[in-house]
Amino acid sequence: MSKSIAGFSKLSKSKKIDWIVETYFTNAQSAKSILKQYWNSNEKLQQLHDEFIENTITNYYLPLGVAPNFLINGKLYTIPMAIEESSVVAAASKAAKFWLERGGFKTTVISTTKIGQVHFIYKGDFKRLTQYFNSIKPKLIDDAKPITANMEKRGGGIIDIELRDKTKDINGYYQLHASFETLDAMGANFINSCLEQFAKTFKNEAQSFNLFSDEEKQIDIVMSILSNYVPDCLVRAEVSCHVNDLTENKAITGKAFAEKFVQAVNIAEIEPYRAVTHNKGIMNGIDAVVLATGNDFRAIEACVHAYASRNGKYSSLTHAKIEDDTFKFWIEVPLALGTVGGLTSLHPLVKLALELLHKPSAKELMQIIAVAGLAQNFAALRSLTTTGIQQGHMKMHLMNILNQFKATDVEKQTITEHFKNNTVTHSAVVEAIQNLRSKN
Ligand code: MEV
Repeated sequence: MSKSIAGFSKLSKSKKIDWIVETYFTNAQSAKSILKQYWNSNEKLQQLHDEFIENTITNYYLPLGVAPNFLINGKLYTIPMAIEESSVVAAASKAAKFWLERGGFKTTVISTTKIGQVHFIYKGDFKRLTQYFNSIKPKLIDDAKPITANMEKRGGGIIDIELRDKTKDINGYYQLHASFETLDAMGANFINSCLEQFAKTFKNEAQSFNLFSDEEKQIDIVMSILSNYVPDCLVRAEVSCHVNDLTENKAITGKAFAEKFVQAVNIAEIEPYRAVTHNKGIMNGIDAVVLATGNDFRAIEACVHAYASRNGKYSSLTHAKIEDDTFKFWIEVPLALGTVGGLTSLHPLVKLALELLHKPSAKELMQIIAVAGLAQNFAALRSLTTTGIQQGHMKMHLMNILNQFKATDVEKQTITEHFKNNTVTHSAVVEAIQNLRSKN
């Protein structure tokens, strides 16, 4: 039976571990040694990781892989990817190589605006609220100057604040809907600090607005928080080539492949069941680079899927067409990213990943990550519409199965060799291991 504990956060790391292993594990010693295996022997590095969050008991590893040969706007990149799923990095690398030989990826940042809102309740006349808002708006911006001064020096800051009437949805509900330019920072702290200052000024100054009745002066702030929905922080990535140049394989002409590929994208555009899986494949690429570069993948995920539903129905993030025998494939995706602040300066592997990417600005990183998503989708659709996904996927998954059976290096080598010319299925691998072991 597990039990509750008071003051857990105050215990030392080793006491926390003792409590966990003794409370939850039949073999406390073995649980403890697994936790210890994942500690870093470099004490400083371990302390850094311990202090990222609360109640750290060990580190959770993900592999960091790289996909080379990405040509983006004429510049070559090797893209770092942190992900556990086999075949994602291989697929990205394959797509990069394919497009390297066909002119590479072209990208553009469409917009970089971020959003934050002060949600409040006001019981009174909307005209007077509008008058109040218009009169106070310069002060809202002015009072936030201590927060915005540095960002403004670099060319960013508050873009605008609007008053939005939401009373059709909730009685008395209004918003200060603010837009920001946060340059190379993801900007969450900056935006939230500005919003909290707006809320303070907005509530306090209402007390002395002469046109308000006593009741109208009682503006009730519900909350002040950035929005992770950033449809105007948008980037586009695309590839194109003559349909004949798409052929690598004699079984299908370039034109037939292009048509089938476009059909697969069209299906994801109209069919939500397919669109979710289609976009999941895109996020395999996007999330892996978002994680490797220390960005917030939950924010990216939440936003991307809201964006994919912006027309009232969940749909594909990518699009494709054939125009005058030219195959065109593109993605438009909102990505709020930072290359300064947060983990970017703290986590040594994140710093390394950013250096590998030529120390990109947030705008450049938006472009690289959109490309990773497009490349991943290209690789998935290419397999799905030709060989099927399992052939390549199971080849990559082979090592996981071998590890499940604790295969030795020699066994791995022999079995990998065998499956170069045989179809990988779980049962075929099990059979191969059993055969090999019975021979020895
Ligand atoms: C698997 O992680 C991703 C795919 O299912 C994506 C897709 O179906 O497009 C292969």
